Amino acid sequence: MGGTRVLLLMLLVGWERSAALNWNPVPRKTVRYQDGQDSMARFSVQGVFNYSMLTLSDHERVLYVGARETLFALDPNDISRQLRPQIDWPAPQDKKRECVSKGKNNQTECFNYIRFLQSYNHTHLYTCGTYAFQPKCNYIKADDFTLNPAALEDGKGKCPYDPAKGHTGLIVDKELYSATLNNFLGTEPVILRNLGQQHYSMKSEYLPAWLNEPDFVGSALVRESSGSKDGDDDKIYFFFSERALELDCDTELTVARVARVCKGDLGGTRTLQKKWTTFQKARLECSLPERHVSFNNLRAVFTLPGPDWRGTTFYGIFHAQWSV
Ligand SMILES: *[C@@H]1O[C@H](CO)[C@@H](O)[C@H](O)[C@H]1NC(C)=O
Repeated sequence: MGGTRVLLLMLLVGWERSAALNWNPVPRKTVRYQDGQDSMARFSVQGVFNYSMLTLSDHERVLYVGARETLFALDPNDISRQLRPQIDWPAPQDKKRECVSKGKNNQTECFNYIRFLQSYNHTHLYTCGTYAFQPKCNYIKADDFTLNPAALEDGKGKCPYDPAKGHTGLIVDKELYSATLNNFLGTEPVILRNLGQQHYSMKSEYLPAWLNEPDFVGSALVRESSGSKDGDDDKIYFFFSERALELDCDTELTVARVARVCKGDLGGTRTLQKKWTTFQKARLECSLPERHVSFNNLRAVFTLPGPDWRGTTFYGIFHAQWSV
């Protein structure tokens, strides 16, 4: 992990059970829902569900929200206020029918769930949705908050097919790095780069040693090149849980991971053409060894930049696979 610190923050669920182990973790801060109600702003629109993507604009004056078949531009100082009319972006009826005919559920799965929403440049955002199990992406004009339906792009590799699957993506210098499941069945996990013209499209290999049934939760850019005299390359980090290959003891199946690639990676010349040659991964271990508890499921990650890249701090929320 170089000089980068990984701080582990544990989310402990099942307090009663832990108390039974004579172990009583106390949350650092508790805010009761009722106490906050007067000061709490809420936002929801009738008939719109799954408000799953939240993105603050670079200038922090707009909070973009991606939900099921709908996108919103809200005032971050009062999220109950819409700054622009919402964008409705449903999957068309014929796509929904195809989705149902392939055995998916028309009440839960065959919709366009927005799973990616980030700034692309000063004038546009880029967004992707599951589009009834046929992922699609599009650009949103930031000033009037509109989508150009004619500019629809294939979302394969940029967005999962299945809205229930973990996914993460990051736009860095107009290139999209994404970690997702690359096919309808969800059997091809990949970390890839596309969208831009600067570099080749890049992929990870479909090998369990690279990614093994991963559940992606987050990604981060660490700009090692800034201020570097040695010409260090920027790194992209991906955080996920996956099925452990190296552990054959049957009580422990999932492990938390961090993987990273170099931004300047151009792939190999003979082997690994258009595949990452810098891909590395490591296990993230969060445990209470004296109590034989391992928190192997990574659920969320937050990256706090430091004064320079070495001071970057990653906060993770971990969950035990069983019981506590
Ligand atoms: C969408 O939200 C509903 C509850 O409103 C939940 O049951 C469902 O699992 C969510 N679906 C996804 C794909 O997040």
